Amino acid sequence: MSKIYKPVKNIFKNPIFKDMDDYDNLVKKFDENYEETWGELAKENIFWQKPFTKVLDESNAPFNKWFKDGKMSVAYECVDKHLKTRGEDIAILFEADDGTNIKLTYNELAKNVNKTANLFTNVYEIKKGDRVVVYMPMILEAIYTMLACAKIGAIHSVVFGGFSSSALRDRIIDAKAKLVVTADGAYRKGKPYMLKPAVDEAMSSGCESVQNVCVIRRNFEPIETNPKDSFYDELIQTQKETFQTVWFDSEDPLFLLYTSGSTGQPKGVQHNMAGYILWAKLTMKWVFDNKPDDTFWCTADIGWITGHSYIVYGPLANGTTTVVFEGVPTYPDAGRCWKMVEQHKIDQFYTAPTAIRMLHKTGEDEPGKYDLSSLRVLGTVGEPIDPPAWKWYYETVGNSRCSIVDTWWQTETGGHMVSPIASCTPIRPGCATLPLPGIQAKIIEQDGTPTPVGEKGYLCITKPWPSQIRTIWGDEKRFIKSYFGDCVYGGKPVYFSGDGAMIDESDYITITGRTDDVINVSGHRIGTAEIEASIKDCDMVASSAVVGKPHEIKGEAIFGFIVLKDENSISKDDLKIKLNKILKEDIGAIALLDDIVIVPDLPKTRSGKIMRRILRSIVKGEAIVQDISTLEDPNIVSVIEKLCV
Ligand code: PRX
Repeated sequence: MSKIYKPVKNIFKNPIFKDMDDYDNLVKKFDENYEETWGELAKENIFWQKPFTKVLDESNAPFNKWFKDGKMSVAYECVDKHLKTRGEDIAILFEADDGTNIKLTYNELAKNVNKTANLFTNVYEIKKGDRVVVYMPMILEAIYTMLACAKIGAIHSVVFGGFSSSALRDRIIDAKAKLVVTADGAYRKGKPYMLKPAVDEAMSSGCESVQNVCVIRRNFEPIETNPKDSFYDELIQTQKETFQTVWFDSEDPLFLLYTSGSTGQPKGVQHNMAGYILWAKLTMKWVFDNKPDDTFWCTADIGWITGHSYIVYGPLANGTTTVVFEGVPTYPDAGRCWKMVEQHKIDQFYTAPTAIRMLHKTGEDEPGKYDLSSLRVLGTVGEPIDPPAWKWYYETVGNSRCSIVDTWWQTETGGHMVSPIASCTPIRPGCATLPLPGIQAKIIEQDGTPTPVGEKGYLCITKPWPSQIRTIWGDEKRFIKSYFGDCVYGGKPVYFSGDGAMIDESDYITITGRTDDVINVSGHRIGTAEIEASIKDCDMVASSAVVGKPHEIKGEAIFGFIVLKDENSISKDDLKIKLNKILKEDIGAIALLDDIVIVPDLPKTRSGKIMRRILRSIVKGEAIVQDISTLEDPNIVSVIEKLCV
């Protein structure tokens, strides 16, 4: 077993968890009084304009309700609550691609959010429950938009700017969005890039529900203007800086965020107000030891759940300073992040293993050139972190004094689930350690029996938690089937994450990766079915199967096995170019094939099911241990193996 690293003494001043006794005590408290403990935390951390009458209502499980009858406001929690005492403190530190900074106080943030809420209400007539699609770069207006939606009860659905126009269109249509908020584009690596053309294209092919497109001008490059377009900068001037707080029910929806599953259609994961904001705030305080006076930097994009929970909602609910960064970590050089840490005296830095591997590879000695002594917590998320990357992060970036929090969670969980608590949990490279207090994470077999120590089992959450996915937008059946159809515990269906995991003698949890047909490329989830559905659009292809192949930087890369209608009709290289053009248009650059092989057939069972497990073993160069006698044509395995050498 690898070495254990204890939190370094004196780094944490007045932490909530001084040592593991504090952790154990809270876990015990939850064990003894689950609902009451959540209720106490909700009362301490959220302002209730009207108190809740019941902590958890499971009468219609799995459509559970938290903090019933309570009235609160997420925008109030994130902005207005801080104004009386801390209005002049910095809420957002924006760093542009070119290095220029804007420091925005909570007072200024409040004014901008209120103006935006007035714009949405008065000009676009957005009401509670309307959907607003946000297709934006990492700029301040993206945050104003999200918080303005929260302020008026509109449901935002942020679509990552790297998704193509057709992926954007599918999400607009599924959510029946009334408003799209976008920007002309922004800057990356010193050059302008564009977003608006993708919106124009999406709008030209069946987004009838959209009444207006609000355009923010960031790079002022020429764009097409369409009848539904209007410009934020022209309309915002005349909007009032005040907006009367509206109080919402705990269970009113806050946002949708689309993510991949094992079918071709992305799922609109729905999070509701009170439960989500409570857990975003608590995990900020617990896991990161974040304090209002700190400066917190999460390098994610707001198009992913990490950006929602740990750039916007968690940090602002905790009243800290959150960094919003427009650029990329390697521009103008591999020292960019460390320069920013030094300049802004960052306390907590949170990124993905892909970025850590890239920064390690391209700038191993760069951290040594900067003063990184402000750091006390380093976080990772989204994929397993390999020991060499972990070691470099710990020793070179953290100078062997910072705690590393390897946080396991998902779009569906809203916030961290299994993670070290920076101030108290002893850590091990590549290990997510223990479930957070209140989270009943268990490694079990499908029938609920605990998986023996050291063996792979299903990572399930056996009790509801406040920031749990509420449903899949417009598809309750799929919600039940996707998350509650695989495992039971204590005779009841329980939430299965889709991940495998292992537990060791000290109850530490190591994530072993997805058990379903989802690939994790650079910490982003992409369903194999989505990719295969796009590949089908190529008229030369008869069938295909894609799997994840281990990749030095990305963690996993997409590898395609392609069966052509006419085997000799195109070369491998030309086919890859052709397929990637289609994938870029259909999904976006994150779905590109890293490598392909043209094969005469796929390993299929007699009922026609593709045995992806065999293909996964082949790309990893592993010996085939699966029983291949059930295949329609067992010989195909050795044929494919030879083609992959
Ligand atoms: O497979 C797990 C992996 O990322 C998946 C969730 O992806 P997404 O919903 O896009 O959210 C990513 C950011 C929270 C999980 O099912 N994953 C997440 N965190 C870790 C991880 N795998 C290993 N270690 C982690 N710390």
